[in-house]
Amino acid sequence: MSRARSLVVSLVALTACNESASPPTTGTDSTTAATDPGTAATDASTDGPATATSTGDEPTTTSPTGTTGEPAGPTYYRDIKAILDAKCATCHRPGDIAPFSLTNYDEAGMFAKILGPAIEDRTMPPWPPGADCNQFAHDRGLSDGERELVLAWIAADAPAGDPDDAPPPVDDDAPPIAYDVQIGISEPFTPAEGLADDYRCFLLDWPKDQETYATAFTIEPGAREIVHHVIAFIIPPDELAEFEALDAADPGPGYPCYGGPGGEASPRAQWLGAWVPGASSGALPEGTGIRVKPGSKIAMQMHYHPNGVPTADQSTIMVRTADTVARPALLLPVAHPGWMVDAPPMTIPAGEADVMHSFTIDLGSIIQYLYKDEAIGVGKPMLAHMAGVHMHTRGARASLAVESGGAPEACLVDVPRWDFNWQGIYEFAAPITVEPSDVVRLECHFDNSAGDSAIKWGEGTGDEMCLGMIYVSTDAP
Ligand code: HEC
Repeated sequence: MSRARSLVVSLVALTACNESASPPTTGTDSTTAATDPGTAATDASTDGPATATSTGDEPTTTSPTGTTGEPAGPTYYRDIKAILDAKCATCHRPGDIAPFSLTNYDEAGMFAKILGPAIEDRTMPPWPPGADCNQFAHDRGLSDGERELVLAWIAADAPAGDPDDAPPPVDDDAPPIAYDVQIGISEPFTPAEGLADDYRCFLLDWPKDQETYATAFTIEPGAREIVHHVIAFIIPPDELAEFEALDAADPGPGYPCYGGPGGEASPRAQWLGAWVPGASSGALPEGTGIRVKPGSKIAMQMHYHPNGVPTADQSTIMVRTADTVARPALLLPVAHPGWMVDAPPMTIPAGEADVMHSFTIDLGSIIQYLYKDEAIGVGKPMLAHMAGVHMHTRGARASLAVESGGAPEACLVDVPRWDFNWQGIYEFAAPITVEPSDVVRLECHFDNSAGDSAIKWGEGTGDEMCLGMIYVSTDAP
């Protein structure tokens, strides 16, 4: 559904920009005027030879597109637009989280020069999982081919090409997800001004009075331009008191929280889902669902990125539920229980650039410890569908691997350059069969070289965490 909506928004934006935006100013381009992207679109005949002087391009003697004199290299309309629309404009569009738009040629041509470094060092699009470890569904990253194409286009001074080559609008034929639960912040909340980031949890009543399974989850951000990420946690009835106390202790709707939903029980809280701008579908892996008990609440953790203009947000969580699912699932947190009570402390000394903490445990033990009344993972194989890691801002890299019956360790997820802003849990391209006796290994690396005091496990911005997450379901339907 969000794909369809993004498309509509992009189209509206496209129209709006075409009306209002002036062509890119030629004066700001320090390279040869002949290759200025502003003229390439309309005056292709004079631009053909430009590629001969650009580095890395084959000199053009014949044009594969016929006699029009189009550049032989990639052009915006023929090669690049589809990539930018799918991989960038989901966030780089008016009113969304990214600082500038990439929805049409005027914008893409104007910003082409600054796109290169972010693409080259893989900071954009934000897609944290390393490609060497595992393959993921909904991969937001650029493929090697796409990366090369876009970089070649930028190197050739971003020619527009022929608008007739533009790709047809993406036809989103996936049926929209029928969300049946819609719960949101009770009153508009304005994040604290003067803070770069504001983290706040809101306790929302779960409306179902019978046990049910959540099978899809998304966020309808109220103020899209300031909502950086959202994590929703299921708080079961017997854990509620602690979170309600946190809520009551803070004036206004919600309470401050950072690494999790707050309090002692925080690391045990089950994730319902996470959302970042540009997230595609909110469906949990096919046939699976997370059980939610009646009387539960949802702790919705909002990470706001205020932009200087006081902005009120009233975001909504949308959940699709089902009475039964083929494969009931659990989200298993992986962390040393001792770290939370300093036995042993997860110490990260000041001035150290690479401090490693690791933990190994078998899957069955996690389930017994956290979900005593669950039948999942008792003596039977399971399917692992998704995995993620979580740290705070001193996190540098982290990985989660599983070792099955003496076979070599299989990498589930590896985040080689941790960025707190872009965290999530990633669905495998295909589920992996695991046994309750299989041992998972979590490894976190921290960089505290700039710090002047030691850091330990905790909930606050000044504390750290080393947490893995694995989403497992029953094997047989
Ligand atoms: C998931 C949302 C999202 C997607 C997808 C995305 N960006 Fe960004 N981009 C951002 C945000 C947000 C910023 C502002 C800086 C930040 O918060 O990291 C940004 C900043 C940038 C910057 C400024 C320099 C920098 O690194 O901060 C460039 C260049 C950029 N993006 C290029 C791209 C390109 C090219 C693509 C597609 C190939 C892309 N982005 C896809 C969200 C996104």
